Amino acid sequence: MNLAAETLESHWLPFTDNRSFKREPRLFVRAEGMYYWSERGAKIIDGSSGLFTSAAGHCRPEIARAVATQLQTLDYTSSFSRGHAGAFETANRVAQLTPAGLDHVFFCNSGSEAVDTAIKIAFAYHLARNEAQRTYLVSRERAYHGVNIGGTSLSGMVKNREAFGALIPGVLHLRHTQLPANRCKPGMGDSGAELADDLLRFVQLVGEKRIAAVFIEPIAGSCGVLVPPRGYLERIREICDRFGILLVFDEVICGFGRTGAPFAAQSFGVVPDVITMAKALTNGAQPMGGVAVRGDIYRTILGAAPQGVTEFFHGYTYSAHPAACAAALATLKIYETERLFQRARELSGYFQEAVFALQDLPVIADVRGYGMLAGVEVKPGKVPGARGGELQAKLFDRGLHVKTTGDVAILAPAFIAARADVDQICGILRDALREY
Ligand SMILES: Cc1ncc(COP(=O)(O)O)c(C=O)c1O
Repeated sequence: MNLAAETLESHWLPFTDNRSFKREPRLFVRAEGMYYWSERGAKIIDGSSGLFTSAAGHCRPEIARAVATQLQTLDYTSSFSRGHAGAFETANRVAQLTPAGLDHVFFCNSGSEAVDTAIKIAFAYHLARNEAQRTYLVSRERAYHGVNIGGTSLSGMVKNREAFGALIPGVLHLRHTQLPANRCKPGMGDSGAELADDLLRFVQLVGEKRIAAVFIEPIAGSCGVLVPPRGYLERIREICDRFGILLVFDEVICGFGRTGAPFAAQSFGVVPDVITMAKALTNGAQPMGGVAVRGDIYRTILGAAPQGVTEFFHGYTYSAHPAACAAALATLKIYETERLFQRARELSGYFQEAVFALQDLPVIADVRGYGMLAGVEVKPGKVPGARGGELQAKLFDRGLHVKTTGDVAILAPAFIAARADVDQICGILRDALREY
């Protein structure tokens, strides 16, 4: 299948240099396990699990069968005062994986929707507690919290913000945690826990009862993999507790085994009040996101409404879509029966070593990583980010798919990967990087 240039025109690709892409399109036609196949028949190893989605490998027949069966049985029902068993079952399964206490789950269709849902939950919770003056939100420089207007406002990446007006008011950004002292250090760096005290300064700036929630990616993924310094998340948790601020972990990338536990909250031993999730929840086979909250947050919001009326005026036509729930249940079963989170944990040492071995190349600026997630940052060319884009195209042509952000290649193989797959991914990357 070769698409003529004019057939490419109507589709406006997201987060893409459309003009270059349409001059030289790179299209996939098939996927299986660790591999994609391009329309030209090239076999391309997947170094980023799609977009951190396909942790159990591509085209799992169990998931495809479950979705097909669901679509032939009950293709759609709204979740507004209606329901289907799969939605409740999925929420129960997710609640078994989240840290104890985060046992109520609101479903949506993406990570961006999960983040904007979490913002609304935070405001509704404080309103229900008669603390509606908590109108400030806190996130971090270099954060990525999706593309809806709430998440864009939380975002700390300038390109994702600058074209979109003033965004929502009252968002304060903590400094990011990428420090020279932690350069090329595997895992959690030793420097930087004190950066959490920025939150204390915000409390002192706006008032003790003015901040509703702090949004943190336990590992900031999309900006290029920033692993939290040792002690940092604990300090954020402690300040949140002291001042009644909700702590939201945005685990859209970290969730479902990426750090070797179901959620990064468990890997890092810090329990937030709310977790946002998406991506690997369905292995990428259906769009789905979710927000897990502490039971008392759910009960507080419900309890503030009179009996007999809707308690939370929020939801999506496709919240808990039957096909998405079928995909999620099949995916979570695979994770369990194949013990994939444990497998991720066991493979992560080998993976991290292989990625960190790239640091001898002259073009490398930094290497960062934890679990089955790593960022390889190259020194910028004339324009920051251009080299990363060029590298991504080059790698595709050599048989490796990776996500790049700016000048960082983000590696996140599926948990079914063998050591040989890790070797292949890092080998192709090394060959390409050697040319700089
Ligand atoms: C931490 C985080 N939050 C939110 C999102 C947005 O998710 P989606 O693209 O599904 O809207 C992403 C996507 O990469 C993410 O990494």
